[in-house]
Amino acid sequence: MHSQLQRRIQRYGWDKAVNNYEDGWRDSLALVQKCLLKTANARHGETVLDLACGTGLVSFPLADAIGPEGRLIATDISEKMIEELECVAHAIRVANIEAKRADGETLDIIDDQMFDLVTCALGLMYFLEPMNTFRQSLRVLKPGGRAVFAVWGARKNCGWADIFPIVDARVKSEVCPMFFRMGTGNVLANELKEAGFENVKEERISTVLPFANDENALTAAFAGGPVALAYGRFDDATRKSAEAEYLASIADFKKASGYEIPGEFVVCSANAPE
Ligand SMILES: C[S@@+](CC[C@H](N)C(=O)[O-])C[C@H]1O[C@@H](n2cnc3c(N)ncnc32)[C@H](O)[C@@H]1O
Repeated sequence: MHSQLQRRIQRYGWDKAVNNYEDGWRDSLALVQKCLLKTANARHGETVLDLACGTGLVSFPLADAIGPEGRLIATDISEKMIEELECVAHAIRVANIEAKRADGETLDIIDDQMFDLVTCALGLMYFLEPMNTFRQSLRVLKPGGRAVFAVWGARKNCGWADIFPIVDARVKSEVCPMFFRMGTGNVLANELKEAGFENVKEERISTVLPFANDENALTAAFAGGPVALAYGRFDDATRKSAEAEYLASIADFKKASGYEIPGEFVVCSANAPE
């Protein structure tokens, strides 16, 4: 797909998703975000770059860990995500986060060898060429600096995955053509090594994603995530048919009290060469 088009789909799609993202996904993503934070082990006074930061579900705990002596730059392609993060940082008086709109594949606003740690939680699936991000991360990390990346796992282990073909069938171009690539097999770890990272370690996490009811599951899938731009343009009839098809696709995971949808994540850590 044309790279400009893919970036526009991401940028404006996530702008649209901003008000539904946390309600839709906070509980489902807590486990993998915790795992990333534990692996990252951010320490007092460190400099951290959080890529594809979204509303800051990972940025705020990182900022807390590095304390007032530390500095965190949070970047995202979506202006609205950055505004939301800034707004919360202001409201809760977090002063050590600087939020900037930036494409995670180019990072041209960031100087060389600035960071002790680079993180990216659940952003790489939306990047066209994650290898660009890995090479840029190596450029901006200090020698020996750490990087931790988390992605969704293999398609067959993510029970909500039919959202993509369901939406793609109703639009002209695929929304997230490479979504499950990084989390399949050892692709993420292998690409990190190929980029020049050392000490690459991989952890695969299986979990269950809780959604309280149909409405909650639909909001997360359609309005709170990467298909939000396409969904926002559907007429009523298209919305209804897409929603019905999605609910049918997750029907096997319906329990007495909402949904428990299988999910899988991969978390990789690595170091820049000394
Ligand atoms: C699922 S959210 C993850 C947000 C956050 N890291 C978290 O763990 O909650 C994915 C984020 O990736 C961002 N994104 C998508 N493509 C991007 C790109 N090329 N560069 C930077 N951010 C991008 C989106 O705007 C969105 O905020």
